Amino acid sequence: MSAVRADKLYKVFGRRASDAIPLLEQGRDAQDVRKLGVTPAVIDASFHVEEGEIFVVMGLSGSGKSTLIRMLNGLLTPTSGRVYLGEVELNGLSAKRMRTVRQEKISMVFQHFALLPHRTVLENAAYALEIRQLPKGERVDRAREALGMVGLEGWEDHLPTQLSGGMRQRVGLARALAAGTDILLMDEAFSALDPLIRREMQDQLLELQSRLGKTIVFITHDLNEAMRIGDRIAMMRDGRIVQIGTSEEILQDPANDYVAQFVQDVDRSRVLTASAVMEKPVALVRAQSGPRQALRVMRENQVGAAFVVDRERRLVGAVRDGAVAEATRQGRESLNGLVSADDAVTVGPDVLVADLLTYSAEAAVPLAVVDDERRLLGVIPRVTLLAALGNGHHLEPATADDTTSSSRQESPDGAKGHESAHRQESLDDTQSETDNAGTEEVTP
Ligand SMILES: Nc1ncnc2c1ncn2[C@@H]1O[C@H](COP(=O)(O)OP(=O)(O)O)[C@@H](O)[C@H]1O
Ligand SMILES: [Mg+2]
Repeated sequence: MSAVRADKLYKVFGRRASDAIPLLEQGRDAQDVRKLGVTPAVIDASFHVEEGEIFVVMGLSGSGKSTLIRMLNGLLTPTSGRVYLGEVELNGLSAKRMRTVRQEKISMVFQHFALLPHRTVLENAAYALEIRQLPKGERVDRAREALGMVGLEGWEDHLPTQLSGGMRQRVGLARALAAGTDILLMDEAFSALDPLIRREMQDQLLELQSRLGKTIVFITHDLNEAMRIGDRIAMMRDGRIVQIGTSEEILQDPANDYVAQFVQDVDRSRVLTASAVMEKPVALVRAQSGPRQALRVMRENQVGAAFVVDRERRLVGAVRDGAVAEATRQGRESLNGLVSADDAVTVGPDVLVADLLTYSAEAAVPLAVVDDERRLLGVIPRVTLLAALGNGHHLEPATADDTTSSSRQESPDGAKGHESAHRQESLDDTQSETDNAGTEEVTP
């Protein structure tokens, strides 16, 4: 079951709010409907957030992000549509029950920290637990532990004013963690921080997330931040969600011109990973085949080296044309002794393209992308890497069984492999085996 689910959510501000819903349902945009004297802030938002996921809501100021998140935690009642936290549907809960659900399930982290100025760091971190009337000893223990998680041990007795911005936001984060809820809602939580501090906080959040497995809905107007931390991103424009996808999906396949324009300046190398740019290996021989077969594959692909895989498609290494030709001349039947593991530089599918260049610099053959068991998933010729870095707009994703990509493909020594796709198929077949937050209340 999803941790958070929104089903056709609408929030329209104004007296005639409900009159606007049918119009919006018919596809009229926010601007049109404003003539009724209403402000449509969120229009037809449907999505689900899985447990342990970081779901980013991304959009320019005024696109409806804060309104959306306030409906998720019950601070705002939707004009239409439903919100579910796990199996609990928020609509129709009594005020008392809503408070309990909120306290037990959700913590908020705000842009301007919302710390209580006259309370110590420890008291601030323990605040949500105080509201819940937990015994003092337990409050203190949990607050201390949470402060430790965000690197603030030793600061317990200081006042917020004695802290830097980054540290204050760590207190905000500690307060949310101390509450022990499974869901964190973060509204522009890092937006007020300096870029370097902000990066640190992003890293810390990712690290905490991998350890604690919280479900996080993270709001930002900064695309780089969204791409850096989001497992998936919902792109909002004028109240509507125009696309939901991973950062790679949004970069590679923007849903419309708006999204395309939005992402055009993104540093792709810091978002795209090896698996997004890898191509189908063409010059590939099996370890069991002999030198003659290896030579044939290289000749067909007009390349000077080939990758060698075993029956399970695990990468053994690469063979070079010279050595193979010599072995053929000597009438040898096996590739034994000719396969060099050093020639094949391997990377994991999740390595960022930006980091691939370091590997690629000294590699004579394409980079081999392998899984944990060293199975060959794809290859990345240097020219592909350079294309990905230079211009991602026309970069088509190539999957391991995408034969159409073979025309762009290069073989181990970097030469063109034209008609190799269908040849490779036969090998594959035999082996067929991927705001204004300063005034916001502290959420109890
Ligand atoms: N309480 C409110 N009353 C009237 N309009 C509001 C209210 N809250 C937000 N809005 C309007 O709803 C739209 C979306 O606002 P908001 O959700 O704060 O966007 P974001 O968080 O993306 O900047 C804006 O046009 C804003 O002016
Ligand atoms: Mg906002």
